[in-house]
Amino acid sequence: MRNFTFYVPTEVEFGKDTEHKVGELVKKHGGSRVLVVYGGGSAQKSGLLDRIYGRLKEAGLEFQSIGGVKPNPTVELAREGVAQALAMKADFILAVGGGSVIDTAKGIAHGNANPGVDLWDFWTGAVSLRKTTPVGVVLTIPAAGSEMSASAVLTNTAIGQKRGLSSELNRPVFAILNPELSFTLPPYQIACGITDIMMHTMERYFVPEEDNETSEALAEALLRTVIRNGRIAMKDPRNYQAMSELMWCGSLSHNSITGLGSRGDWAVHQLGHELSARYDVAHGASLSTMWKAWALYVYKSNPRRFARYAQHVWGLGDGGDEERLALAGIDATVAYFKSLGMPTNFKELGVPSWDEALFEELAYRCSYGKTRTIGHFMVLDVEKMRDIYRLASEV
Ligand code: NZQ
Ligand code: ZN
Repeated sequence: MRNFTFYVPTEVEFGKDTEHKVGELVKKHGGSRVLVVYGGGSAQKSGLLDRIYGRLKEAGLEFQSIGGVKPNPTVELAREGVAQALAMKADFILAVGGGSVIDTAKGIAHGNANPGVDLWDFWTGAVSLRKTTPVGVVLTIPAAGSEMSASAVLTNTAIGQKRGLSSELNRPVFAILNPELSFTLPPYQIACGITDIMMHTMERYFVPEEDNETSEALAEALLRTVIRNGRIAMKDPRNYQAMSELMWCGSLSHNSITGLGSRGDWAVHQLGHELSARYDVAHGASLSTMWKAWALYVYKSNPRRFARYAQHVWGLGDGGDEERLALAGIDATVAYFKSLGMPTNFKELGVPSWDEALFEELAYRCSYGKTRTIGHFMVLDVEKMRDIYRLASEV
């Protein structure tokens, strides 16, 4: 087991009606002037936003709001939020929504605490992040896990880049998880969420280290739970029990706990981000599109790992031929994604056309102009990235 630090300071309030505690939680975490961040309208339509405003008022808090966050959120909107936060002297940023809203709130929080620094400089690493403003979350979709994660992902539309910023300062101070707030989700978003939750667990599971019995067992249990409850939620989106399991798994899948003692792979996320940046596709769809090609490309570097996955997650086989089991596990995963209606290759994603030049360009961008490799299960250089993009157009 590799050394690790595990410190997740996010206070979780889970269950029905927990959003009513938002005012007291903001106060408890030091907020008095709150900037509320929300998305494209679902939180307004459901009446959630008005309930939140009511609770903030009751608690005697001053607040303003900024809406219009879109999936694949932009640094441009976050910059507007920073200007508003600075003008109102905000000391707390409250996200009401999903990963896109939460990541925008994180961006605003960082900009608000560091006036004078352009936000994107934190995302490129040109400036290192040393302080921020507290962020609280009222979650409306089980998916990205941003409500407890150390990461924030923004797109710079001016240069067509989607990048993640990893920092312990990204962890929200509280997260309100009421599964009922997700009852208005369209099936496609539920499917994208299930995919993302699985992928956050698998990115930490398909790693070179094999001496993490606890983390592996946690990851396998989480995957089985998501797969089973995902099936139920797709048929019955208002099933409280299924949505509860998905929501809690979403947070656990990305709060670091399933990967302690190893480095994490994250290649599929990096490959997928290039598709989202170029085609503005949902994050979950970018992942299911790249996973099959990635798995088929890398499994031979350690078929034993994929065979274990097939057995412990999908209940396949009883030992025996590792390679056969590994491939059966990949097939089962792809069949599950398809059953959710998720794309598993370029064609299903709707990529309009492709050729060698496209694979080269995607790989060039994913390698940050040939300045980095990605992945640990198999280290991928720019040529391997290109091969995997090509494979995603063929499988
Ligand atoms: O904008 P509104 O109207 O709210 O609609 C949203 C949006 O269209 C809708 N939605 C959310 N809750 C709803 C609802 N519709 C009806 N009822 C509800 N209760 O769902 C759509 C998707 O929302 P979004 O926030 O984009 O979804 P998600 O939570 O999947 O977040 C995706 C973003 O998070 C990033 C992704 O890259 C992507 O940009 N990620 C962030 C991570 C992190 N910070 O740790 C990790 C992830 O790997 C991921 O990269
Ligand atoms: Zn993700």
